[in-house]
Amino acid sequence: MNKRSIKDVDIAGKRVLMRVDFNVPLDKQLNITDDNRIKAALPTIRYILAQKAKLILISHLGRPKGEKKPEFSLGPIALHLSALLGKPVKMLKDCVGPEVEQAASSMNDSDVLLLENLRFHKEETANDPVFAKSLSLLGDVFVNDAFGTCHRAHASTEGVTHYLESVSGFLVEKEIEYFQKILTHPEKPFVFLLGGVKVADKIPVIENMMDKADTIIIAGAMAYTFMKVEGIDIGSSRFEADMTDIVKSILGKAEARGIDIVLPIDHVVTDNIETAVHVQSTEDKTIPEGWIGVDIGHKTIELYRSILSQARTIVWNGPVGIFENDKFANGTKMLAVIIANSNAISVIGGGDTAAAVAKFGVADKMSHISTGGGASLEYLEGKALPGIAALSNK
Ligand code: 3PG
Repeated sequence: MNKRSIKDVDIAGKRVLMRVDFNVPLDKQLNITDDNRIKAALPTIRYILAQKAKLILISHLGRPKGEKKPEFSLGPIALHLSALLGKPVKMLKDCVGPEVEQAASSMNDSDVLLLENLRFHKEETANDPVFAKSLSLLGDVFVNDAFGTCHRAHASTEGVTHYLESVSGFLVEKEIEYFQKILTHPEKPFVFLLGGVKVADKIPVIENMMDKADTIIIAGAMAYTFMKVEGIDIGSSRFEADMTDIVKSILGKAEARGIDIVLPIDHVVTDNIETAVHVQSTEDKTIPEGWIGVDIGHKTIELYRSILSQARTIVWNGPVGIFENDKFANGTKMLAVIIANSNAISVIGGGDTAAAVAKFGVADKMSHISTGGGASLEYLEGKALPGIAALSNK
């Protein structure tokens, strides 16, 4: 990476302002249900503390839209981080202002402060320069280790870099290393497995991957629009009529370039997603009238197994069925296991795909699970991420 890293700066005794992505899921009792993003920041946190620097952590949680809402407080995260580090993590009630400045300037070496949710101020997402400057007053150096938020040009990811020396943390470096390799010199054959619901969300990534991947597998609800465009009956499955022209153009481009776009050849279907009382498999790729596709079928799993087992690089973004319901989870589960057992470099896009891989107990068998959902998708689309672009060059 051509950006400066935390290893390139002397931080001993200094105040390090570090942007993390502690936007983790919480249940109704405010218990953290998945702490991967917190754990992923630990190597940088531990390094900073070992350098005897003073660590001031900043993050958002959810989308409180400029309002101080208690359910979006980072309080539960401070407690959890303290347990993970085995030392106190002092939580402040705000992230800017005289009291916060006072607390940040009276820290001892290796102390940890966690500031309250950045998005309690609407100026954060507006990338307000005055707010960014206030944040910058808290540190001597800025470290961005919030890969999951690097696609946002916010005050704490982009604005603040105008006022402080700004470097990457180890998590951001690791994420970029994997994605850069995929985008520049992936080991071949390279299979891109794309699932998820909306075609519109995935058009840019398909366009970019057509130049990189040997095979693109398209499954999940978005596949039904591709099937319909190819003249296959999809029953009452989700169809995005406004995507017809763009899908036709993608299929045409893929054919011209010799890229295989592989769609499901059988399905699990139901007549009611909510009740899921009637669930059956189709014989072939056709979905009968009145039925809704909710997962890939056994023949498709075998077809995808044969493709994935030849691959040297696999990137997976998006579940292939409604895996939250066990009745529709088999396809996503089987593909997770197939990828986990393959010899390919396997990179899992964050968000739902990371949750699926964790649910099926194979997370530790993947080469890399991104902590960024939107961020990893935008990186694969070939876009520059503002939070990374803003860091100091080497
Ligand atoms: C994420 O969960 O993808 C990141 O934390 C960014 O959150 P946002 O989509 O609310 O900006």
